[in-house]
Amino acid sequence: MKTVILTHPFQTQAAAKLPKKLRKNLRFINAWKETEVLEALPRAAGIVSLLTQKIDRRLLDKAPDLEAIANMAVGFDNIDLSQCKNRKIKVLNTPGVLTRATAELAATLLLAAARRVPEGELLCRTGKFKGWAPDLLLGKELHGAQALIVGKGRIGSETGKIFRGLGLKVTYCTRKDREATVHSKLKKAEILSLHLPYNEKNHHWLSRQKLQLLPKGAIVINTSRGNIVDEKSLIDFLRSGRLFSAGLDVYENEPQIPANLRSLKNVVLLPHLGSATEKTRHEMASMAVESIAQVLNGQRPRNLVKF
Ligand code: DGY
Repeated sequence: MKTVILTHPFQTQAAAKLPKKLRKNLRFINAWKETEVLEALPRAAGIVSLLTQKIDRRLLDKAPDLEAIANMAVGFDNIDLSQCKNRKIKVLNTPGVLTRATAELAATLLLAAARRVPEGELLCRTGKFKGWAPDLLLGKELHGAQALIVGKGRIGSETGKIFRGLGLKVTYCTRKDREATVHSKLKKAEILSLHLPYNEKNHHWLSRQKLQLLPKGAIVINTSRGNIVDEKSLIDFLRSGRLFSAGLDVYENEPQIPANLRSLKNVVLLPHLGSATEKTRHEMASMAVESIAQVLNGQRPRNLVKF
C-alpha cells in the first residue's frame, strides 16, 4: 500500500470518488494541519499540496519515499522543482479546469477598477451616499480601449475573449516578443492584464521602468502571482495618479498586503479568489487526486509538469 497525504477536505471527497482500480493500492491520510503533514511525510509516497504550502528541501528531507506531488493549483511556484528533479519526484498541477473562473475574475477586477466599485460601495455602506450627482465617482468607459494581455496561455487567451466581448481592443504580449516590441505595446496599453506563471525570470516583470511606459491613466490587473509585479513601484504609481487604478487578486508577500496599498482608494483588492468557484475548486481537487493516483499506479497523466 502506498500512502497519500490529503491536505484539504475537498481532496478527501475526491478520493472517495476514485474508481476502485486506482484506489485499491493506496491509503489516504487526511492532514489538514501543517503538524499533521509533517507527521505523515516519512511514510508518504504522495502528497496533494496547496499553493500555500512551501515544498522545499527542508520538507522533502522528511519524505524519503515521496514519488509524486500533486499541487491543487495550476501554478507550482511553491514547489522547489530542482529538488524534485534531483530526487526523481514527479510533480502534477491542475491546468484547464480553472481557466474560465480565473478569466472571469480578471474581468470582474477590470470592471470594478474602471468603474470605482469599491469607492461606491464604501460610500453606500458607510451611509455617506447623499444622492445622485453628475460628477459622483466618475470612472472610465472600457468600450474601444486598448488592452494588453501579458501571457497567451489558457487563462490569458480566455481573458482576451471576455475583454473582446466587453468591446476592448486586445493585443497580447508573449514570450517571443523582443524587448523593444514589449515596450511599444506597453506604451499603448490603457489596460494591462497579467497572466504569467511565476518563475525567477518573471520576478518583477512589471518593473518601475515598464510601469513608466504605460499611458497616463492606465489600469493594471493582476490575477497571476504577486511577485510578477514590483509592488512598491505599483503603489507609487497608483498614489501619484499616473495609474487610474488597479485590480489585484495576488500580492508580493501574500497573504500580507502592505498598509499603504490597503489605504489607497483606487485599487480593488481581493484575497486570491481567481479560481474560487464551487465547481472549479472541486474540479481542481479531483484532478489533483486522480492524477496522483494514476502516477502511483504507474500511469502518465497529461498534467505532469515537465522539468
Ligand atoms: C492557481 O491555481 O495557481 C491559482 O492561483 C489558484 O487560484
